[in-house]
Amino acid sequence: MISPVRWDGERLVLLDQTRLPADEVERRYATWSEVAEAIRSLVVRGAPVIGVAAAFGVALGARESRATTFDGLLADLETAIKGLASTRPTAVNLFWALERMRRSCLDHRTLPLDRLKARLLEEAEAVLQEDVAANRAIGSHGAALVPDGARILTHCNAGALATAGYGTAGGVIRAAHAQGKVHLVWVDETRPVLQGARLTAWECVKEGIPHRVISDGAAASVMARGEVDLVVTGADRIAANGDTANKIGTYALAVLAKYHGLPFYVAAPFSTIDPTLPSGDLIPIEERDASEVRNFGGRQVAPTASPVFNPAFDVTPAGLITAIITERGIFRPPYNFSR
Ligand code: MRU
Repeated sequence: MISPVRWDGERLVLLDQTRLPADEVERRYATWSEVAEAIRSLVVRGAPVIGVAAAFGVALGARESRATTFDGLLADLETAIKGLASTRPTAVNLFWALERMRRSCLDHRTLPLDRLKARLLEEAEAVLQEDVAANRAIGSHGAALVPDGARILTHCNAGALATAGYGTAGGVIRAAHAQGKVHLVWVDETRPVLQGARLTAWECVKEGIPHRVISDGAAASVMARGEVDLVVTGADRIAANGDTANKIGTYALAVLAKYHGLPFYVAAPFSTIDPTLPSGDLIPIEERDASEVRNFGGRQVAPTASPVFNPAFDVTPAGLITAIITERGIFRPPYNFSR
């Protein structure tokens, strides 16, 4: 199984996603600040696996601590948590995982410090294992929505690389493919940093899933030609009303799907739902460096003097989403995630 993250007994090992598809390079991390930099620079990206990496980052922060009291250790952990939390603002899985690690530390405050540090590592391992299990459940729920001979359009990468393994939207595609239902996956290239062309297509090649890469602007045409049966994407944060933040361009696809009468599905684990936000307009949207838009393949494609706007995510209103596929089952509008 493709997995972008593992613990080698001493260090966190990440598959460097900035180097795919050309090179499969693993990098090893021994400190929380190195992990934070890996998240910021997209070595590891995708909402669920950002959470997994951050959980290991906290465990590394505990191991780095020279404190001799619980309060000292907790203070060091808070520094690590704050640093990791400052990397990327949109995917709520990051904050969910950091909070889970903080809670685990507080719950085990009576343990000797060495034992507590080992416990935090176990907690990070649990976050990783639970993510894979959630994705398999998402895949099996979602595959039931996929008709025989399906032509599926997806955006960005919500596959194994974006998770601890198997994928969310990618998991739905994987499970449906295993059932022999997938005729073709249309892979949006996903400008500016090409997670579709570089990462989703790489996964499809590895798994033998039939696919075609299209430029983002081609999605409307393939729908108009009657060559898409459904759209499925992942999510970075889902508000309590079902409004969903995902990679920039997702909203446009949802509008297109509505116009062409196609189902538009979102697949995500429960850790992506943010019950504290009533609606999507409250979701913080990350803006990334202008260089991602101004350059392409190492070459400048817009004048240096041209200002750039580079939001990494957009929010799809709940009203455009046919259903949200989670490990706890399929939710339909009006969305109520309290079951
Ligand atoms: O900027 P990225 O590559 O981290 O954005 C990733 C996405 O938008 C994914 O679709 C989302 O995180 C879901 S991953 C299962």
